[in-house]
Amino acid sequence: MAKYRIALLPGDGIGKDVMDAAEIVLQKINLDAEYVYGDIGWEFWKKEGNPLPDRTLELLRNSTCALFGAITSKPKEEAQKELAPELQGKGYEYFSPIVRLRQEFDLYVNLRPARAFKGNPLNYRDDIDLVIFRENTEGMYAGVEFYPLPQEVKDVLLKYSPKMKRFADVPNDEIAISTRIMTKKGCYRIVKAAFEYAKKHNRKSVTLVEKPNVLRETGGLMLRIAREIAKEYPEIEYREANVDAMAMWLVKNPQDYDVLVAENLFGDIISDLAAQLVGGLGFASSGNIGDNFAVFEPTHGSAPKYAGQYKVNPMAMLLAVKLMLDWLGEHGKAKRLENAIAEVIAEGKVKTYDMGGNSSTLDVARAVAERI
Ligand code: NAI
Ligand code: MG
Repeated sequence: MAKYRIALLPGDGIGKDVMDAAEIVLQKINLDAEYVYGDIGWEFWKKEGNPLPDRTLELLRNSTCALFGAITSKPKEEAQKELAPELQGKGYEYFSPIVRLRQEFDLYVNLRPARAFKGNPLNYRDDIDLVIFRENTEGMYAGVEFYPLPQEVKDVLLKYSPKMKRFADVPNDEIAISTRIMTKKGCYRIVKAAFEYAKKHNRKSVTLVEKPNVLRETGGLMLRIAREIAKEYPEIEYREANVDAMAMWLVKNPQDYDVLVAENLFGDIISDLAAQLVGGLGFASSGNIGDNFAVFEPTHGSAPKYAGQYKVNPMAMLLAVKLMLDWLGEHGKAKRLENAIAEVIAEGKVKTYDMGGNSSTLDVARAVAERI
């Protein structure tokens, strides 16, 4: 029996293109692994009313970890219209499979590295090497929202929050509310993960990115917990930044930052900002990591206009494979893959359109595989 069982979930559009690229590289890496394919995405929504079928969840429960391509998703009304005729009117509701995976497997860390590879013409600067820990299961994306606002909820808010009084006279169907839910456990485990990572990888600093001066309760909770945890790591510099200021600093001095840790929404925003500093969507990889399972993915979507053309950059996906190898403890193989990626970029010969070249997705994957 193989040491690992790895689920490959190509999904939709260019998810399939970049998964083919990943497989070329995985073959060369020669991991002691069995690979299994799982169904996910738009196709399964249309045919079955479920973009993440139960059989896929079952397959994932029996796998070591998963590599995911991308999925297509559409607004509510459009999604309903595309359901197969026989499924119409049966009450199927579209949900994002990747959000569901994060919740289902409690993948609380969203690891988003942003490293500038030397020679990448898309770099903002060449000395950027950030690692972002974005909380992945709660915060502003917890999904507890109201519209129209139920009267009972309004009454409770009026009773407990003086600040709600300003909205007392707004009709319930003219007000929408999203809640930012943060738990002690949620704050603790994401900050702890960031510090543990910093310690293991000899990183200089960890910066908490929040807004506790305005979001006093949720931000305050995160801040107090982070300060406590920081005391356990005297060798690592602990810093704090407000999220708005951080957006500026990341443009002004991105090289001054190292590991960043943030709540779900703030982490989402700063990790996209950071991604653009080092080449954009073609280079942005992520790991959704829990205590017992993890899903690795490029952060881009299914880019329908490029689907099946093998034009897009597979680097984000190959960097996701690198994250996966590290998570498996295969650090030697991870390093070799990262070095091969760095070499191909530095040589500057084989590159996709976004980098000013015209190589195909698979050419890039082959060039990387040759250098492993
Ligand atoms: P997208 O990320 O699919 O593509 C936006 C544009 O970025 C593309 O048209 C292309 O110009 C560029 N791009 C993306 N990946 C690239 C790569 N590897 N190399 C070079 N260029 C690349 O975002 P978009 O167009 O907003 O969404 C398309 C679909 O993907 C939607 O249905 C959306 O809901 C879904 N989506 C899925 C995600 C996921 O599976 N995790 C994440 C984001 C969007
Ligand atoms: Mg995002």
